Amino acid sequence: MPTEQPMPTGQTSPTGQTPQGQLYGVGLGPGDPSLMTVRAVEVIASADVIAYHSARHGRSIARSIAAEHLRADHIEEALVYPVTTESTDHPGGYRGALDDFYEEAAARLAAHLDAGRTVAVLAEGDPLFYGSYQHMHKRLAHRYPTEVIPGVTSVSAAAARLGEPLVEAEEVLTILPGTLPEEELAARLASTDSAVVMKLGRTFGKVRGALERAGRLDEARYVERATMKGERTGSLAEVDPESVPYFSVAVLPSRVAPLTGGPAPEPSADPERGEVVVVGTGPAGPLWLTPETRGALAAADDLVGYTTYVDRVPHRPGQRRHGSDNRVESERAEFALELARRGRRVAVVSGGDPGVFAMATAVLEVASQDQFADVPVRVLPGVTAANAAAARAGAPLGHDYVTLSLSDRLKPWEVIAERLAAAAAADLVLALYNPGSRSRTWQVGKARELLLAHRTPDTPVVLGRDVGGPEESVRIVRLGDLDPAEVDMRTLLIVGSSQTQWVRRRGGRDQIVWTPRRYPEG
Ligand SMILES: C[S@@+](CC[C@H](N)C(=O)[O-])C[C@H]1O[C@@H](n2cnc3c(N)ncnc32)[C@H](O)[C@@H]1O
Repeated sequence: MPTEQPMPTGQTSPTGQTPQGQLYGVGLGPGDPSLMTVRAVEVIASADVIAYHSARHGRSIARSIAAEHLRADHIEEALVYPVTTESTDHPGGYRGALDDFYEEAAARLAAHLDAGRTVAVLAEGDPLFYGSYQHMHKRLAHRYPTEVIPGVTSVSAAAARLGEPLVEAEEVLTILPGTLPEEELAARLASTDSAVVMKLGRTFGKVRGALERAGRLDEARYVERATMKGERTGSLAEVDPESVPYFSVAVLPSRVAPLTGGPAPEPSADPERGEVVVVGTGPAGPLWLTPETRGALAAADDLVGYTTYVDRVPHRPGQRRHGSDNRVESERAEFALELARRGRRVAVVSGGDPGVFAMATAVLEVASQDQFADVPVRVLPGVTAANAAAARAGAPLGHDYVTLSLSDRLKPWEVIAERLAAAAAADLVLALYNPGSRSRTWQVGKARELLLAHRTPDTPVVLGRDVGGPEESVRIVRLGDLDPAEVDMRTLLIVGSSQTQWVRRRGGRDQIVWTPRRYPEG
């Protein structure tokens, strides 16, 4: 749709007496002139002025794509970039020199538009997709009738030339400029399904490094000058970095569809590729899933874990899910290691952080047995429930604290009672996991009693329930008022120290709890 109703060339504007021309941003597609749209050809034919950006050497890729449609009576405006490297003596630096250039270029086009001429700004690919046209659009579209003609992007062209599906079903496509820092590229590449990295050339080494760090170099494809003369496609890992021009992209195609036409080949064929990655999904939804964990979940052949946590992971075609009861930890660990030994990539799924009262220890315990000595195991960190609950309440864990599970299923209550008393005597903040359940109802009352021997009844206690989930509630109560009936298996308790502050703000609408980092001397 045009951004405003186009007016015929040379007509008087509704606001003034001067005739106004029409501005077009014309997408030309990725390079092959036969991929220009019918509309792009029409607009070029009707234009008085043909403008295009070009580098200092004067050659313009956009002009060369549209060349066969240009006529001798077209007025040509070459908008020649002032600098091609980042070294300039402009007082505002490279950015300042570019801003001046865009201002001057826009003024030149505005002069034609004011004279009632139709101006077509040519753009390789699509005008609003990483295109120079946008700098003219931002300066002129609010002043003149403007229409943008979409074009086939290099993303579509690259996928077409590779002849491989790009995204299917629920897969997510991420488009990245190769100019981002390597760390950022690696994180994004690890956490997405499909990807296209643009603007290669000098950035190629960094992009290759990021693909490697994300564990995705093997999947990466390379497309140079898609649909143009000199086109090249292939496996990215085999490309000589010195040979890569700016007009090239890296592609991670769809992981869903094998090109064999049949079902996906059994990934267990190569025992060398098998591994176990122990991950935590964070305390609740996908907002607290790290990019690394997201990537590991997507790359896994098999998901193994307590059904509640496995259910948090979106379904993927071809991925097998093995949900089980939350009590069979060592059987689950052994099952995962056995699958990995046969060449499967297995993600063992926990909630929160996998190393905090969760599956990582169970997996490492079994992995320490001789029969699994050669199976690679990695543990990826996650956001814990204590961190999430603390953040909702403020910063109660800002000073020294202890993490304790109140469950006496795996250790005797006497040990728990001793540790509670020791932590309370040491004036540590306490993050209490597994505080109670339908069958464990007395532990919270007993813990309160032990803590009150060292803390005042006014000590703030945060009750974080289902934090980040649909039934989230975060309440703050006095330790003296802590009611065990209000605590269940989905609750985490944070008990303040003698220094923890409890403050009401915004007229009592907000309550915050925080523990200062400084401790009184003496
Ligand atoms: C077996 S532990 C798992 C801990 C997890 N690995 C972590 O890093 O937070 C289960 C306990 O974690 C706490 N918990 C986990 N998710 C929670 C959430 N979203 N809100 C409040 N507490 C949570 C509860 O105390 C629950 O009883």
